[in-house]
Amino acid sequence: MKKTILIVGASRGIGAELVNHFSKEHHVIGVSRTEAKHCQWLPADLSTSDGIQAIIDSVGQQPIDALIYSSGIWEEQGFSDDFDFRKTTAEETHNIMLVNLIAPIELTKKIAKNLSLSNNPRAIYLGALSGVDQIASDQVAYAASKFGLRGAIQSLRKALKPENIGFTVINPGNVATEEVLDDIEKGLFSEQIPIPLSDIISSVEMILSLSKHTEVGDINLSQK
Ligand SMILES: NC(=O)c1ccc[n+]([C@@H]2O[C@H](COP(=O)([O-])OP(=O)(O)OC[C@H]3O[C@@H](n4cnc5c(N)ncnc54)[C@H](OP(=O)(O)O)[C@@H]3O)[C@@H](O)[C@H]2O)c1
Repeated sequence: MKKTILIVGASRGIGAELVNHFSKEHHVIGVSRTEAKHCQWLPADLSTSDGIQAIIDSVGQQPIDALIYSSGIWEEQGFSDDFDFRKTTAEETHNIMLVNLIAPIELTKKIAKNLSLSNNPRAIYLGALSGVDQIASDQVAYAASKFGLRGAIQSLRKALKPENIGFTVINPGNVATEEVLDDIEKGLFSEQIPIPLSDIISSVEMILSLSKHTEVGDINLSQK
């Protein structure tokens, strides 16, 4: 059955790959600041309340079967040997929290009414392995935002129980986006085999294929 899927973070990386895949069969609405291809693009800046409201206004009253929240930012020097937590700024920390933690909470609060119109609604968020207990990295803001995201989703599951939404956080290690592959080639990342994008797609497909009676909490995907 054709679904309506809202993909946030649709212009690049994992989100763009999800758009390419799901737009072959479903109606995909994509959110980002720069243009997202192969979908109905909604330009919005998630770090502002106006940006979040613009998404809600554009979506209107239509049912949404799945929200996939793939927007995420990290420290400027993050994931490189040059990263030094002491050199990060309060502004950087604040922005990371806005996009990775506050925006998914506020967007979910407002889009829940659209999700509740679906027969089997799903809300899926891209976390990170560094947001899982005992494997945090030294990127304090990023790790805290992803830890917080997992906590927020556990709480949203309770707060929005009547809406019957299945909530999942996918926590991957490094994923084979263009940026990550480029960083490995330049030697900014150690030699490694990142998680194929197709495995993120398969994880989302699996969640969307489940009956409405089953919920998947967290999915942790690590590199072998
Ligand atoms: N790639 C990895 O190896 C990896 C590993 C673990 C977890 N993750 C998580 O997976 C998610 C996707 O990562 P990615 O590598 O695909 O990231 P990416 O390539 O940098 O893409 C991020 C997406 O988020 C959007 N975005 C960022 N700030 C925004 C804002 N203020 N308003 C609206 N949209 C915004 C970007 O669009 P615009 O710039 O056009 O707005 C872009 O479409 C993130 O949450 C990340 O933490 C990634």
